[in-house]
Amino acid sequence: SLPTIAVNSAARLSKINPNIYGGFTEHMGRCIYGGIYDPGNPLSDENGFRKDVLEALKELNIPVIRYPGGNFVATYHWLDGVGPKEKRPARPELAWLGTETNHFGTDEFLKWCEVLGTEPYICLNFGTAMAWVEYCNGTGNTYYANLRRKNGREEPYNVRYWALGNEVYGPWQVEQTTKEAYAHKAFQWAKALKLLDPNLILILCGESGTTSWDYYTLRECLKPTRAALSSNPTPLIDMHSIHMYTASKDHLQNATAPLAAERAIEIASSLIDLARIENGVSPDDPRPSICFDEWNVWDPLRAEGRFGAEETYTLSDALAVGVFLNVFIRKSRDLGMACIAQSVNVISPLMTSPTGITKQTTWWPLLLFSKYMRGWTISAHVSCGAYNGGTSPSWLRSVKETPWLDVSASLSDDGFVNVVTINVHEHKDFEAKVEGAKGPVNVFTVTGADVTVTNMKGKEEVGAKETTWDGQDHYVFPKHSLTLMRWKE
Ligand code: AHR
Repeated sequence: SLPTIAVNSAARLSKINPNIYGGFTEHMGRCIYGGIYDPGNPLSDENGFRKDVLEALKELNIPVIRYPGGNFVATYHWLDGVGPKEKRPARPELAWLGTETNHFGTDEFLKWCEVLGTEPYICLNFGTAMAWVEYCNGTGNTYYANLRRKNGREEPYNVRYWALGNEVYGPWQVEQTTKEAYAHKAFQWAKALKLLDPNLILILCGESGTTSWDYYTLRECLKPTRAALSSNPTPLIDMHSIHMYTASKDHLQNATAPLAAERAIEIASSLIDLARIENGVSPDDPRPSICFDEWNVWDPLRAEGRFGAEETYTLSDALAVGVFLNVFIRKSRDLGMACIAQSVNVISPLMTSPTGITKQTTWWPLLLFSKYMRGWTISAHVSCGAYNGGTSPSWLRSVKETPWLDVSASLSDDGFVNVVTINVHEHKDFEAKVEGAKGPVNVFTVTGADVTVTNMKGKEEVGAKETTWDGQDHYVFPKHSLTLMRWKE
C-alpha cells in the first residue's frame, strides 16, 4: 500500500514556544570578530555591526540569542569588556587558545540584540554572576548599575535569560566540576540571583539530558524553595539545558542521527518529572522546560578553521537540520527554548567574507521552519517503509526502525496547516497520500542534485523552490528532500 501521512488539525497537541528558533553567538573563531562585528568594513554600520549579517538574521526572525559562550565563558570576565574600548585589556583566551581583545562586550552585544530585535540570553560563570546581572538589570543607586550608566546606558537592559554555567561537567572546561559540587553551587547561586532579580529565568547546566549528571543536578536543584524565598513564588530553576551535535560520513546515519534528540528530550523530560516527584514538588508548581541551547550538525574533524569551527554544509546536513527541527516540533510540549550553535561563521548556516555573505544548505530548513512552523503542534501519523541500518549515535540503537519519511505538523495562528516531510532516502522518491490536505497547497522544496552538494563553491546548489499542488490524489516526495506544505485549514 502507498505510504500515508495523516494530518489532523483538530488534534492540537501542544503550543510551540517561539524560542525554539533561538541562536547562539560565541567568542569563538570568526563568529563575533569578522562575523557580526567588523568595524571599518564598508558593510558595517557606525557600531561596527555587519549590516548584511543583521539583514539576513532578521529574515530568520530569531527570538533569543545566547552569548558569550559556550566554552569561552569559563574564563571570561565581563568587566574586561565594558567601558572605553582603548582601556579594555586584551587577555589570553583559554577555551579556543587565542587573544581576546574585549572590543566587543556586554554593551555591544545587548545593543546588537536591540538592533536585531531579539532577546539576549547570557551564559554566566559563577565567579562574576551577581555583578554582571546588576550591571545589566540594576535600577538602584548601586555600584554596577551606576557603572552601566557611566558607560552610556541609563535604562536597564532587563536581560531575563541566564544560564548557570556551560558544560561544566566536561574535561575540556577550565573549571570542570563534579555533579555534586555543581548542584550545590548552582542551587545557592540561583537563590542569590533570584533574590537580586526575581524576574530572571535560570537555566541549569544539563548534559545530554540522558545521564546521571542530568538526573543528579535536577534532583538537587528542583527542591522546593518557597520557604527560603517566601516573597518570591517562582521556583529557582526554570529550565534544564541539553547539548547535542550529530554528524556522520554515511548519509543515512547523518540524516537520521538527530532523532537521538527526540530520545534525549523524552528522557530529560522524565527526569524532570522524577526529580519533582522525589522532592515532593506540587504538580501545580510551574514545571521546568528543556532548553536545547546547543544543537547542530558538527564534526570538528571534518570542519575547517581553528578547532574545526567552520563547517561546509551539504544537502545531507540540511536534511539532518530539518530532522532536528521536526523533533523540536514533535516535542514542543517539553521545549522552552532551542538555540542553533551557532548563528554566524562558526558551525553556522550563515557565512561571511569581507565582501559579503553566503547562505549554506542548512539555512533553508531553518528559514522555512522559522517562517511557518509556529502555533500548535498537531497530530501527524506516518505509515511508510523504514530504514533499519545503523544509527548514530549508538545509544539510539534501541530504536531500530527509522521511517523513510520524517514528519511534523503545525497549525499556525494565521489558520494554516503546515507539514514538513523529509525523505531521507538517497535514491528513492516516495509517492504518498496526504490525508487532510486541502488544495491549493503551497509547497516549498529543499533539495539538490545529490546529498553531497554544498553552497560554498560560489553557487547556490540548495535553496527553497516554491510550487503549488491541488491537494488531490498523491504527492511524490522526491529523494533526499525536505518538503514543507501549507494549506488553509
Ligand atoms: O558551540 C561550540 C562549542 O561546543 C561550545 O563552546 C561548547 O559549549 C560546545 O562544546
